[in-house]
Amino acid sequence: MDIQTIQFSTETETAAKIQSDCMILGLHHDLKIDQQAGELNAATENLLAELAGDNELPTGVGKTLMLRAPRGLEAKRLLIVGFGKVSDFDEHTYIQAARAAGDALRQCPATDACCLLDGVELKGRDHRWKVEQAALALDHADYIYSATKTPLESAPPATRTVRFIDAPGVAEALDRVHHLALGIRRCRLLSDLPPNICTPIYLADTAEKLAREIDGLEVEVLDENQMDDLGMWSLLAVARGSANPPRLFRMSWRGGAADQAPTALVGKGVTFDTGGISIKPRELMEQMKFDMCGAATTIGTLEAIARMGLAINVDGIVAAAENMPDGKAYRPGDVIETLSGKTVEVHNTDAEGRMILADALTWTARNVEPGVMVDIATLTGACVVALGHHASAVMTNDDELADELLAAGIESADRAWRLPLWDQYQEQIDTPFADIKNVGGMPAGAITAGCFLSRFTEGQRWAHLDIAGSAWRWGKAESASGRPVGMLTQWLITRAEGQS
Ligand code: BES
Ligand code: MN
Ligand code: ZN
Repeated sequence: MDIQTIQFSTETETAAKIQSDCMILGLHHDLKIDQQAGELNAATENLLAELAGDNELPTGVGKTLMLRAPRGLEAKRLLIVGFGKVSDFDEHTYIQAARAAGDALRQCPATDACCLLDGVELKGRDHRWKVEQAALALDHADYIYSATKTPLESAPPATRTVRFIDAPGVAEALDRVHHLALGIRRCRLLSDLPPNICTPIYLADTAEKLAREIDGLEVEVLDENQMDDLGMWSLLAVARGSANPPRLFRMSWRGGAADQAPTALVGKGVTFDTGGISIKPRELMEQMKFDMCGAATTIGTLEAIARMGLAINVDGIVAAAENMPDGKAYRPGDVIETLSGKTVEVHNTDAEGRMILADALTWTARNVEPGVMVDIATLTGACVVALGHHASAVMTNDDELADELLAAGIESADRAWRLPLWDQYQEQIDTPFADIKNVGGMPAGAITAGCFLSRFTEGQRWAHLDIAGSAWRWGKAESASGRPVGMLTQWLITRAEGQS
């Protein structure tokens, strides 16, 4: 499926002279107009001050006011978005306001806009950051799923172009944002697609299509027979109940030195998780199409960094399977031999993510020999209970790696929070009948899933990201968030800078 982002570019004209369908301005309601938008106020013959005087400026964060034919401006419209109070303003309210502006833009007939949001004072963040995040927020709001839904004839058009006022570094920042936005859109679209379209084979085909499209990006795909020959029986056990065969694939980007060990991302790609024989309740089962968000994140991140031409070696490994109940399905009580040689007693066929990742991690450790590997998975409901939708969970025994990932999360405003993987939790997955069992009981469900994965890391530097909460929003406006493509891309950018 074709993906397009907003086109971003720079503008050297002064704000009042810029011709566009819509000028986007952010304002604090408790700060004097001449302290934040003096020039624009002068250009509009005091229009902004008049609005403030009549209490017509948006007062809450993300509240918007759309003005048609603003006096003194060449632009057709002026969209004012509320930044809230100066004292409460931070990077997250900035992004919230920028997304709200994007929503308003998406709902109006404008297809071209000029963004002035980055002119605001924001403590601790430089101009480049403000431009990047505003562009990402506008692009985020512009994405509306339409792959299997006919748009209304009256639906307003997507935004085609957004310009930012030129300044040192802005054009480079926008160039990078464009590639990141593509990766995020790829991740969101793959995640939002229904499970009858987005099967394991569809995911592998997408990777192959990207490899054809992007110079230097390579892909290698293993089918079920090749996996069987290798002994990936833990992954195959999960896939056995499904008519859709599994795939394991590896996307390789070699932007770094030939002798540099690749950084590996390993994504959980369960294209639909019924729970298998330990079947899930019927309510909300349809949400389990999102159980491939780890795979979508891996694909989206590889797309972003390859399009950026990042100077680093990265491998994205995806373990893709569907978890269905069937006469051939694996069952509770089964003991399965994994690729590592370790045996696993299945207590719950719904703990399938760790079963497929066990083999994918072993395969990665042995075949990729990465300097470091990070798996990404919608692994546990317990993670959603612990952190909600605002943070991805990071689990690792490598403090430095934890710090790197958390820092990338802060820099990209795609945050993560660390959970411990202390040895004491490990005994919860002991069983008399195998080397490991696949569930650890009620206490610390996200952590014992991490403990399970830690048994398959073969001594590599490794971290596990549980994105069950961060990867998608539940409820009315349910859809994939595209997270944590932003965080991982930032992490790889920082690593590339450190290695060059
Ligand atoms: N994909 C689910 C995790 C999940 C559940 C994510 C709800 C988002 C919302 C995973 O495969 C799963 O079913 N995990 C079980 C593990 C349990 C059986 C130990 C869970 O969390 O209930
Ligand atoms: Mn499950
Ligand atoms: Zn699952």
